[in-house]
Amino acid sequence: MKGVILAGGNATRLRPLTHVTNKHLLPVYHKPVIYYAIEKMVEAGIDRIMIVTAPQYVSQFVNLLGSGQDFVSKRTGKQIQIAYGVQNEPRGIAQALWVAKDYVGTEDVILHLGDNIIEDDISEAIQNFSGGATVFLKKVPDPHRYGVAVTNKKGDILEIIEKPENPKSDLAVVGAYIYDNGVFEKLVGQSPSARGEYEITYVNNRYLSEGRLRGIELTKPWFDVGTFESLHEASVYMRGKHRKQNEKA
Ligand code: DAU
Repeated sequence: MKGVILAGGNATRLRPLTHVTNKHLLPVYHKPVIYYAIEKMVEAGIDRIMIVTAPQYVSQFVNLLGSGQDFVSKRTGKQIQIAYGVQNEPRGIAQALWVAKDYVGTEDVILHLGDNIIEDDISEAIQNFSGGATVFLKKVPDPHRYGVAVTNKKGDILEIIEKPENPKSDLAVVGAYIYDNGVFEKLVGQSPSARGEYEITYVNNRYLSEGRLRGIELTKPWFDVGTFESLHEASVYMRGKHRKQNEKA
């Protein structure tokens, strides 16, 4: 399975912090935001990762991450391999995934939004993946900010609605998705949404309509650092975690 991390977009909600740099290069306590997604993938055994970003930021990511020399593959014991993809215009998450089509080739793929920080270990979901799509869900107090999943009593997903004004549930769809190779066919034929983007929720709903979408509820903290508030919260959380680790050591 290959990994794709998205690090494009305009991040207008974080201006002026993002006037001259990219959201995923900002610090969350002691590391740039993008490190958390890379480490999550490496923990799960993924060691070939494409980072998709906008043309003006590619060199900054290359300066920071190079070919992946700071991260060790669980599989080989050597450095992971990082490649770069360029999304010319920020036309949505689904379009950014399309940039990685040739890189992914015939393999399955885990797509991780670069501004998401997931504390649960997702290794098992990756190891047990057997086709279709797997999404991760998390109960939140402010579901209108996210893709929202409606589930039945058994926990099966019935529908996903992108940023509903009146959410029918408090289950947000987290920004990490495991797809089989059929995902690239499902990216085709979509019209841009009201906000002018090719939405990943459309893709997930296509898997759902085929009965091939699985949802796993996360239990540990999750952050989408797209706002000042959540960027700060994530830093405070990581500071606490780092201190505890240092006390133990
Ligand atoms: O964080 C989880 C949420 O992420 C999901 O619940 C939503 O269903 C999903 O649409 C997404 O919503 P956001 O509004 O938070 O997405 P945002 O525009 O912040 O972009 C998410 C990431 O993808 C971010 O790391 C930037 C990157 N991105 C985004 C766009 C629109 C790109 O690389 N290219 C793009 O064109």
